[in-house]
Amino acid sequence: MLQASYEEGGALAALSKDALTDNLLTFMFGGFDTTSIALTYALYLLAKNPEQWDRLRQEVDAVVEPGFQLSIKELKDLPYCTKVVKETLRLYPPAPLTARTTTSSFDLDGLPVEEDVHVLIPIWWVHRDKDVWPEPERFDPDRFDKEVPAGAWIPFSDGLWNCVGYRFAMAESTILLAGLVRSLTWRLPDDYILTPSCNYYYYYCCCCSRCCCRCKGTQRVPHRSFVVLCWLFYSCLL
Ligand code: HEM
Repeated sequence: MLQASYEEGGALAALSKDALTDNLLTFMFGGFDTTSIALTYALYLLAKNPEQWDRLRQEVDAVVEPGFQLSIKELKDLPYCTKVVKETLRLYPPAPLTARTTTSSFDLDGLPVEEDVHVLIPIWWVHRDKDVWPEPERFDPDRFDKEVPAGAWIPFSDGLWNCVGYRFAMAESTILLAGLVRSLTWRLPDDYILTPSCNYYYYYCCCCSRCCCRCKGTQRVPHRSFVVLCWLFYSCLL
């Protein structure tokens, strides 16, 4: 990208330094940070859940002989591993919230939303909607045996501007996790509980969910309505 940008007449010759920096940051955090966070949480969840770890190990051992290099071809034979990755992304979405700006006004289950409003979508809380995910804090990869309602599992966001690396990230994480399970065994002390640090992303997710409940009084908010208008918080993020 750098080379193309500096070559006279190159396809990216018009790319400014700022645009280049923005793109590099997007690739770096969008493509690397997210996947490594997802795998870190997968290792944690498997260590806390030895039964699931054993089941995954059995699947991987059945697919891959010792010394055999895992590749994309094995992906279709790793359904449980794929479910483990999906369940990890549900419980610990590396991007716990995303944002949009409305292009027209509309009614959100009785909540009027103006045009040109910044909207935060608290992915973390969407993934903990009890109506869709019974016992939401429980690690249960088999949840994904059933079809998931549209909009209920959105670690890669949704719609036209969702993650461009979605399929690659799923394939990469699944293959890597299978490789790790095949080579290593890891456990945690029984009393070890990981508490995600309360950085402002998680904090805003908490705020968003509370704010949402207040907006709707005592009424239960369906998961697709777990969208919060939050001008102030959004401005703080920028
Ligand atoms: C587990 C891994 C990943 C997760 C959870 C994830 C999640 C997300 C989310 C939530 C967004 C924001 C979409 C929105 O605006 O609502 C996004 C955007 C993006 N992701 Fe990923 N991502 C992952 C891996 C990757 C990988 C591996 C790549 C590249 C190979 C990638 C490239 C991007 C890019 C370029 C964008 C910006 C898209 C745009 O603005 O049009 N992501 N990702």
